[in-house]
Amino acid sequence: MTIDRASLQALKLSEIRDSMTEFDLYLDLGGEIVPYANGPHRWSADETEQLLQSGQFVLLYNRADADRVRSYLANRDGAPCVPASDASHQLADGISEFLKTLYAVRFPEEHYSLVKGLTVALDKFLQAYPQLSDLLLRLVQHDPYTFYHSARVAGYSVALGLALRGPDEARLWDMAMGSFLHDIGNLSVSKDILNHAGSLNDAEWNQIRQHPEEGLKLLEEIPLTRTVRDIIFYHHERLDGGGYPRRLRGSMLSMELRIVSFADVYTALTVPRCYQKARTPAEAIQFIEDHLLNFLDPKILHAMRRLLAVQGGQLSQIAG
Ligand SMILES: [Fe+2]
Repeated sequence: MTIDRASLQALKLSEIRDSMTEFDLYLDLGGEIVPYANGPHRWSADETEQLLQSGQFVLLYNRADADRVRSYLANRDGAPCVPASDASHQLADGISEFLKTLYAVRFPEEHYSLVKGLTVALDKFLQAYPQLSDLLLRLVQHDPYTFYHSARVAGYSVALGLALRGPDEARLWDMAMGSFLHDIGNLSVSKDILNHAGSLNDAEWNQIRQHPEEGLKLLEEIPLTRTVRDIIFYHHERLDGGGYPRRLRGSMLSMELRIVSFADVYTALTVPRCYQKARTPAEAIQFIEDHLLNFLDPKILHAMRRLLAVQGGQLSQIAG
């Protein structure tokens, strides 16, 4: 039986509870979609553990079942199958957030296996460098918003990288890793400042503006590429020279850097914070077009519009 990949949506394994699902589920095994659960399926912690161990972070379901999935998520009971306190599962949750973000936009099916390979490589790299895993886990504890925000930025950056630069694996690795780590320096910013609702005083702003440099210091011992380090250090630089920490401008900013900066801003606009309501994708695109094109690259805005299928201020239905 051939399964139409375009008709599937992603469901994070961490969203499954020790309970019953009543819709068909599939796995993506290196680009090949295989049926996993046909109809009613009783879940257990052992089963999700096994799936996570084998590198499966997301399940796929038919868009036609979107209402049933929504209803399951709203009404599920039972304990989380993935305990929130378990370190390896928290990292897996970040990686599944990355995949979920990617699967929610339109990128060509021919790149699915490349993305899967990239995901497994990211997971292996985190396991190979415990210092890096420890830093990310400290970030989850310190500011969960930054951790999940970074995973989503990685998803959009890879999708934009594929759209604008093609399937260059080394470049995509740099953008994914750079995105995951771009705000690791927030570990040095107090929680109160990170979640501050009003305006910040000079001392507080100074602390914020240090986070790119603090991030690089924290990662000194990890073998990261020059591009990844540049993404961490320069992700707040802007095309018009109004960014920080070096006030770079125009052609001094690489395409990789511009893509991650764009994804960072877009993601921040579309997620609710204590000080702002989330914009819809169409509203975020419009906001960037109206207010931010002095410092974000219009080419990337156009690519993002295509990925989201946003036309004339409207977002066509792409999610289930
Ligand atoms: Fe940042």
